[in-house]
Amino acid sequence: MTELQQRLATGKGKFTPLYEELDTGPVSYEDSISPEFFEAEREAVFRRSWLYVGRSERLPRPGTFFTRELNGLASIVVSRRKDGVVNAFHNVCAHRGNKVVWQEHPQEESKGSCREFACKYHGWRYGLDGRVTHVTNEEEFFGLDKDALRMPPVHCEEFAGFIFVNLADDPVPLRTYLGDRLLELEAYPFDKMTQHYGFSAPIRGNWKLAVDSVCEWYHPPYVHARFIDKDIAKAEKMVPPPDSYHYDLFTPHMLTSVPGPPPLPPREPGTAGAAARDQKWVYRLFRAGLFGPDDVPDIGPLPEFLNKGKIKSWGNDQFWLFPNLSVQIWARGFYITYTYWPEAVDKHTYDIDLYFVPPKNAQERLAQELIVDSTIEFAMQDVNTIEATQQGLSTRANRQFHLSDQELLIRKFHKTVRDTVAAHQARDAKES
Ligand code: FES
Ligand SMILES: [Fe+2]
Repeated sequence: MTELQQRLATGKGKFTPLYEELDTGPVSYEDSISPEFFEAEREAVFRRSWLYVGRSERLPRPGTFFTRELNGLASIVVSRRKDGVVNAFHNVCAHRGNKVVWQEHPQEESKGSCREFACKYHGWRYGLDGRVTHVTNEEEFFGLDKDALRMPPVHCEEFAGFIFVNLADDPVPLRTYLGDRLLELEAYPFDKMTQHYGFSAPIRGNWKLAVDSVCEWYHPPYVHARFIDKDIAKAEKMVPPPDSYHYDLFTPHMLTSVPGPPPLPPREPGTAGAAARDQKWVYRLFRAGLFGPDDVPDIGPLPEFLNKGKIKSWGNDQFWLFPNLSVQIWARGFYITYTYWPEAVDKHTYDIDLYFVPPKNAQERLAQELIVDSTIEFAMQDVNTIEATQQGLSTRANRQFHLSDQELLIRKFHKTVRDTVAAHQARDAKES
């Protein structure tokens, strides 16, 4: 036995003990079932963190806009002003509070392009910066200071084409919040990957349980057997062992690097080409699968910030931007964002967005669609387990749970949420 195998086998752990702030004891999941904690988390975490709301490609020209419903928190408009700057404001009319920007249904998000926004109720108008430009029958009002009227601004900053908003009064700048390790993401050519496929699903489970399901590779032989092997004994052997991953925790964010199979060799025109093991024909024909296309687009040299753990057969890096965004950069030249929007203690919306270099032909397009469908199926395989876990936890029949060494990201993530809530409550108590 190597020293590493010994450490893994003796329960001392290899990864968790590297982080002083983490213990190795049992954990509580009260943070995922308590309605009081949910309210506290909304105030401490979601009302005070930088939240990712969309890619800047969604706003290609001045006058383009989209709206976001941040459930229970805010309804916001994000727009590109005439000077090219992206800004955000609450989607609320200064006259009598009507939601200003929507199309067919007020509950639905909308997008488009315009010179001004007009409130559908009494026709007040707003510029692309949210300021009032027109008050209907202005002379009938009493001492109205029109220049001061607006849809209330929301802090909005862009980083590497990712648009973030922050609902706090005076947040730290986005770049400070992200910190050095995440600022390195700027070196990645996200702007080349404009082919977008999106998917959104309502999940009856706490948002953190969904994050947990992407933070470890302990469950795939059971939950994702269809992608690995129906024979569990074989599937267990095929998932790489815990020490083939790389972890890095840089509070409040974190990262894990994951191994993956190399792409298939190029094939002779007119043939199906080699298969990986007993690979399904659909993956072989379209030359793609869960790990991406076999014909990898040329996006230039790999930036140095990726695969810092030097995994030999590297699959992807998963950056966790606290609280609710994961950016996965894949070895085969594409990226995925996962976003989790809490709606209630036992309910959230799960958004998956995949971005590729635009396909040059039908074969590349089909390969991308196969990756999208595989990714969504893989993610949805987790959902029943998330919902079942929520049900199990809610009974409070067990109050203490056990995390292994390779589940350190879960341990860390819940701790960061709990610490953020505790720090906010302590500040609140001091101020009152
Ligand atoms: S509420 Fe918007 S114009 Fe009246
Ligand atoms: Fe999973």
